[in-house]
Amino acid sequence: MRNLVFSPIKLRNVELKNRFCVQPLEGNDANNDGSPSIQTTDRYIRWTKGKWALIFVEATSISLSEESKSRIKQLVLNKKNKRKFKNFVEKIKEKNNILLLIQLNYGGRYSLKPTISYHHPFYDKIIRLDYTYPVINEAKVNSIFENFIECAIIAQDVGFDGVDIKCCHGNFIIDYIRPANKNKTFEEKVCLFIKTLKEIRENTKKDFIIGSRISFFEGTPEGFGTGKNPNDLSQLEWSQPQDLIRKLKEIPVDFINETVGIPYIMPHLTRPSFKDENPQKYIFFHYKLTKKVKKELLGNTKTIDLKTLVKKKNGIYSTNKGNNETILVIGSAYTFEGKKILQIADKQIKNKEVDIIGFGRQALADPYLPLKLEDGELSRINYCITCNKCAKMLHKGHQSKCAVYSNKQ
Ligand SMILES: Cc1cc2nc3c(=O)[nH]c(=O)nc-3n(C[C@H](O)[C@H](O)[C@H](O)COP(=O)(O)O)c2cc1C
Ligand code: SF4
Repeated sequence: MRNLVFSPIKLRNVELKNRFCVQPLEGNDANNDGSPSIQTTDRYIRWTKGKWALIFVEATSISLSEESKSRIKQLVLNKKNKRKFKNFVEKIKEKNNILLLIQLNYGGRYSLKPTISYHHPFYDKIIRLDYTYPVINEAKVNSIFENFIECAIIAQDVGFDGVDIKCCHGNFIIDYIRPANKNKTFEEKVCLFIKTLKEIRENTKKDFIIGSRISFFEGTPEGFGTGKNPNDLSQLEWSQPQDLIRKLKEIPVDFINETVGIPYIMPHLTRPSFKDENPQKYIFFHYKLTKKVKKELLGNTKTIDLKTLVKKKNGIYSTNKGNNETILVIGSAYTFEGKKILQIADKQIKNKEVDIIGFGRQALADPYLPLKLEDGELSRINYCITCNKCAKMLHKGHQSKCAVYSNKQ
C-alpha cells in the first residue's frame, strides 16, 4: 500500500496530486518594486520540480509602503508590478501540475515602520515603542482591510489559484484581533476579518481558493488563544479560536493553515529546533491544535479506511468515496520529524487529524523531498538539522536560504 501522503485530495475544485505543501517562506530577495527576482523565481521552480502539490508563495506585502512591508526586499503585489507577477506565475506553473497560492500580508507591528492600532505595555516593549507613538484610526484600519481585497483580486488577475490572508506570527490581522486590543469587542474585530474574506469570495471567480494561516495560540499576555493567567501563559484558551473557526466555516473558506506563536518573540513555538529544551513538546502542541481545528470542522473524527484506496490509471491512489470535506486543514512544523515524516504524516491523515502536510525549513533544506520520497531515494534526502540559521538571516534583513545545504541544490 502506498503512503497516504501520496494520495490526492480535492481543494475547492482542484485535485492536489499529493499532500505535500511548501509553507510560506520569505526569501527577502525581491526586486526593488517588490516583484519576484531571478533568485525568487528559481526557488519556486525548484519546488515545482520537487513535486510538492501545493506551494504557498511567501508573505507578500499588500502595499509598497514601509507601514506594510516587514523587510526591504519583501515581495509586494500591486497594480504597477502585475505584469511581472503574471510572468512569474506563468513560469512556475508552466507544465507543472501544482497549485500556487499567495500569502498576502500587512506587517503592522512588525513592519519597517511599525503600524499599531493600540498600545500595550508588553507588545510595545518588544519593538521598543514609546507610549506616545501614533496609533492608526478606524478609517486607516478599514482601508488596510480593503487593501487586502484589492490585492486578492490582483492575485487572481495574475494567475494565482488563490490567497492566504495572513493572520499569524504577530502581523497586522492577528495583532488587531487579539484580546490585548481593547478598542473593540472580539465580535467587532473578527467581523472585519470575516467581511474581508467574504468580499474576496464575492469579488473573485468561483474556483478561486481562499483561506488563512492563523496563529491559534500566541502564548503572550492577552494573546490570541492564550489563557488569562499572567503567571502561566502556556495555557490554551480555545473559545476565541473556536468562534473564529465557526465563522470561517460559514463563509466558507477553502483551507485553514495552522501555526502558533510570534517567531520574533518565541521562535521555539513556531519552528521548534534541536537547540530548544523540549522541542517535541512544541511539535505535539502543533499537532494537537491542528487536530482541534480539524475536529471543529468535521464534528466527529473518522478515520480513512485504507481498503477504500484505489489505484488510478496514472499510478496514484485515491479514495474511491471521494472527499466530502470542504475545508482542508494544513498542519505545520513537521520539519523536526526528519526520517519519521512518512510514518507521522500517514498516521495523522488516516486518523483525520490533518489533510495536508506543510513544511517550512525542510522545503528549504531539500526542495526535492516529495520526489525523493516517492522514488525511494531516501539516502539522498538532505534532512534539515533545525539550526534556524535561515530564519536568523531573514531577521537580520538578509536573503534567507538554507545555510547548510543550499550549495548542494
Ligand atoms: C526563512 C523562513 C521564512 C519564513 N517565512 C514565512 C512566511 O513568509 N509566512 C509564514 O506564514 N511563515 C513563514 N515562516 C514559517 C514557516 O512557514 C513554518 O511555519 C515554520 O518554519 C515551521 O515549520 P517547519 O518546522 O516545517 O520549518 C518562515 C520560516 C522560515 C524559517
Ligand atoms: S539553515 Fe537549513 S538546516 Fe538550518 S534550519 Fe534552515 S533549512 Fe534547516
